[in-house]
Amino acid sequence: MKKYKNILVTGGAGFIGSHLVDSLIENGYKVRVLDNLYRQIHPTGQLPRYFNPKAEFIKGDVTSRRDWLKALQGMDAVYHFAAAVGVGQSMYEIEHYVKVNSLGTALMLDILANTRHKIKKMIIAASMSSYGEGSYRCKIHGTVRPPLRSQSKLEKRDFCVYCPICDSIVDPVPTMEDAKQNSNSIYAIGKKDQEEMVLNIGAAYNIPSVALRYFNVYGPRQSLSNPYNGVVAIFMSRIKNGKPPIINEDGLQTRDFVHIRDLTKVNIFALEKDSANHKTFNVGSGNPVSIKNMAEILIKLYGSKLTPEISYKIRKLDVRHCFADIKKMKQLLDFQPQIDLTYGLKEVIKWSEKEQAVDKLDFAMKELEKRGLR
Ligand SMILES: NC(=O)c1ccc[n+]([C@@H]2O[C@H](COP(=O)([O-])OP(=O)(O)OC[C@H]3O[C@@H](n4cnc5c(N)ncnc54)[C@H](O)[C@@H]3O)[C@@H](O)[C@H]2O)c1
Ligand SMILES: [Zn+2]
Repeated sequence: MKKYKNILVTGGAGFIGSHLVDSLIENGYKVRVLDNLYRQIHPTGQLPRYFNPKAEFIKGDVTSRRDWLKALQGMDAVYHFAAAVGVGQSMYEIEHYVKVNSLGTALMLDILANTRHKIKKMIIAASMSSYGEGSYRCKIHGTVRPPLRSQSKLEKRDFCVYCPICDSIVDPVPTMEDAKQNSNSIYAIGKKDQEEMVLNIGAAYNIPSVALRYFNVYGPRQSLSNPYNGVVAIFMSRIKNGKPPIINEDGLQTRDFVHIRDLTKVNIFALEKDSANHKTFNVGSGNPVSIKNMAEILIKLYGSKLTPEISYKIRKLDVRHCFADIKKMKQLLDFQPQIDLTYGLKEVIKWSEKEQAVDKLDFAMKELEKRGLR
């Protein structure tokens, strides 16, 4: 017997949400989606082709109390994924990001605190971006959490990270869930707000809650035309349009890429396993991959002759390294990511062949440059 039957997925028309919707339906759940089909993600304003016809769809906005009330009615659990997603953009669309991410979540919690409902589990999409710079090891001081690198060093093309105590060069190590969150963008601050608010109200009202800090998620259905998207989609869109991927810094900065199918499994376990309750988890692969290496793998898989363009440019607020310590996920959710990066990327490329990729990167970069953010 399943503990939950009716599941609400906000943002269920988006990349991560839509995969979860499919998986929930396959696993016998009844699914409702609340999504406003935001134009930056859904340029036609229509439900995407991939949207599962077995899911109920409510077109609505997480900034509307009325839409939340309608969506939450009769539900046993909620995955709250709808969000404004983009670090750079959040630095000038500040009101929009705070409204959708922080206030949208506050509205859901306000309703749960003040009305009769059946919600017995909340799962919030949190983000690795809330850590800021990842964890590092200093030979003298052990694990340290350096602040963002100084602008003057970056301008001299010194991309290293230094110990905040003795100023010697430090080496990246996996970042654990209990690392302090040094959020350094409005997007990251909002994501931190969201997880804290959900866990706080969950504990106060005894509603089991789980915060999943996703690292860089990739897979079919990611928007190839949203220039504020993750690096995989941006590089794919460039290569597809015959342009070289443009790489910031020297390209040796690393990120942690996790395949959407692995992520979806973790999402299902977070719902079904009580061991997840009232906890925060990193959801990454645990493997750092340099941005230059990612560009090279993609170029090779596309069979292209392009070479990545190392720009040495710096994007304000960018971190040098951040990758997940996934011990907690392994121990408490009994899950280890399974999809190999090259295999996963091959599959995404195959999917992208039928997709239109409008390269709007130049536009997005100009927006950031205009404001001195790049
Ligand atoms: N993609 C990643 O690598 C990544 C990493 C960390 C965290 N996350 C988080 O995971 C969640 C899902 O991300 P995604 O990559 O699927 O993004 P996405 O943009 O593909 O999906 C988000 C969905 O939310 C909807 N939406 C936006 N504003 C809304 C509003 N005001 N009301 C209702 N619906 C709204 C959009 O229409 C879209 O369908 C987000 O909360 C994001 O912050 C994603
Ligand atoms: Zn030190």
